Amino acid sequence: MADFVGAIDQGTTSTRFMIFDHSGSEVAKHQLEHEQVLPQAGWVEHNPVEIWERTSAVIQTALGKARLQPSDLAAIGITNQRETTVVWDRNTGRPYYNAIVWQDTRTDRIASKLERDGKGDTIRQRAGLPPAPYFSGGKIQWILENVDGVREAAERGDAIFGNTDTWLMWHLTGGTDGGLHLTDVTNASRTMLMDLETLAWDDELLSFFDIPRQMLPEIRSSSETYGHTRANGPAGGEVALTGILGDQQAATVGQVCFAPGEAKNTYGTGNFMLINTGTEIVRSKAGLLTTPAYKFGDADCVYALEGSIAVTGSAVQWLRDQLGIISGASQSESLARQVEDNGGVYFVPAFSGLFAPYWRSDARGAIVGLSRFNTNAHLARATLEAICYQSRDVTEAMEKDSGVKLEVLKVDGGVTANELCMQIQADVLGVPVSRPVVAETTALGAAYAAGLAVGFWKDTDELRRNWNEDKRWEPTWSEEQRSEGFGQWKKAVERTLDWVD
Ligand code: G3P
Repeated sequence: MADFVGAIDQGTTSTRFMIFDHSGSEVAKHQLEHEQVLPQAGWVEHNPVEIWERTSAVIQTALGKARLQPSDLAAIGITNQRETTVVWDRNTGRPYYNAIVWQDTRTDRIASKLERDGKGDTIRQRAGLPPAPYFSGGKIQWILENVDGVREAAERGDAIFGNTDTWLMWHLTGGTDGGLHLTDVTNASRTMLMDLETLAWDDELLSFFDIPRQMLPEIRSSSETYGHTRANGPAGGEVALTGILGDQQAATVGQVCFAPGEAKNTYGTGNFMLINTGTEIVRSKAGLLTTPAYKFGDADCVYALEGSIAVTGSAVQWLRDQLGIISGASQSESLARQVEDNGGVYFVPAFSGLFAPYWRSDARGAIVGLSRFNTNAHLARATLEAICYQSRDVTEAMEKDSGVKLEVLKVDGGVTANELCMQIQADVLGVPVSRPVVAETTALGAAYAAGLAVGFWKDTDELRRNWNEDKRWEPTWSEEQRSEGFGQWKKAVERTLDWVD
C-alpha cells in the first residue's frame, strides 16, 4: 500500500498541497498565494482560474520536492475556504464572474431583506445560520441577478455553482469539459440552502434566494471515494479523491476533536472556534452557528457549534499592507513587545461587519482610547489583543450554549506562531492555551478524512494517538485585570455598531 496521503488546502490567501505519512507528520509541502481582488469597499473577490492554476502548481511542486509518484499517495483530500462562491459554465469551464469571497459584504441588503420579510427564523432553524452576507446563498443570488446571461444559463442547466472544493474537484477529475460536480455536507451547510437534519438541499430555502436546483452540486459525506484525479492532471496519474471538509471542520478533525465537548480555535485570515456536540443538533441562543463537523461515510453526521470571526490574521496584514507599520507578520510580535500593555488603546477590526456572536453587518472597524502618548507599538499590541478578545466573546457564547466550561483551548493556524498573542489569549480567557506539534491541522484533517476512507488509518482512535502537544501557555493576569480589559473591549465593540445603513 502507498505510504502517504496528500491534502489540498485551498485557503483565503493561499493554496497549499501537503503530504503526510502514517504518523501524521508532514513529509513535504508547497504553498502559493493568490491575488485578493478588492474592486470597491466591502467587496472581496478571487480569480477562480488563478486558484485552479495555483492548485495544480502546488501539487506538482510538492510531489517533486518529496520525489514521490502518484502511486505513493493512498488518497488525496480537499479542504477549502468555505462559503466563497464560484459559478461557471459546465460546457467550457469558464467562470461567469470572479469568486465572491466569504468576507465580501455586497449582499448585506439581501440578508437584511430576508430578516425583514420574516424568513430569518426559518433559515436559522433549518440551516443553523442567521441570514448574513457571509454565506453562499446570497452570493449566488447576486451573480444570478447581476451578471448577464447567468440566470438563463442556470435555468438551462449550463451555469453551475460550487465552493472552491467543488471547483477543484471538477477540475481534478475532468478537463475543461467537466468532471464531478459534488461537495460534502460541511461545505453545503454554509450556503443557507441545506437542511441540517436531512443533509439535503431544501426547496423552500432555495426559493428564498430564487436559485435553480440544477445549479447545485450533489451533497456527499466528508469521507468516501468520490473519484480519481485524471491521469493527465497535476498529480501525474490517477489518485483516489476521498475526503472533503470545509477548512474549519478539517481543523476540528486534525485536532482530533472527536468527542462531544472537545473544541479547537483556528487563527487564519479569520478565526473560527468549533466545539463538537456529537450527533445532536444544538441550536444556538447566543449567536453561534450550528454546523456539521464531519460525516465519515455512512456513519451519522457529527455536528458542532461554531463561533466565526471574520478578521484575525487579516488585521495583522492590514497593519502591514495598508498602514505599513510592520514589514512582515512576525514583526507584529516584536513591535507589540516594545510596550507593557495596550496603553488604553482598543482596536475592533470590524472590516466585514461583526460576525459571531454579534452578527452585525452594519458595524465597521474602530480604534478607540487614543491619546498623544500612543505609538505604533500600542496599536500592534491592541491588534493582538483584538484577536484574543474576539475569541473570548465567542468562548462565552459557547459556554452558554453548550453548558461546557472550557478547560483548555486547543489552537492552530498561522497566528499561533505569535507567542505573545498566545500568551495574551491565555490571559484574556483565564485558561491554558495548547498548540499541537503539527500546526497544519487543517490540511491534516483533510488528509485524515481521505485516509480513513481507504483504510490508510483504521479509525479515529488511531488518529488520536498522532496528536501531541508542542507548547502550552498558562494565564498570568489577575481576575481583576481580566475583567477590566474585557469590559473596555465590550465598550469598544459598542462604538463600531450602527455605522453603515
Ligand atoms: O468561513 C471562512 C473560512 O473557511 C476561511 O478560513 O482559514 O481561509 O481564513 P481561512
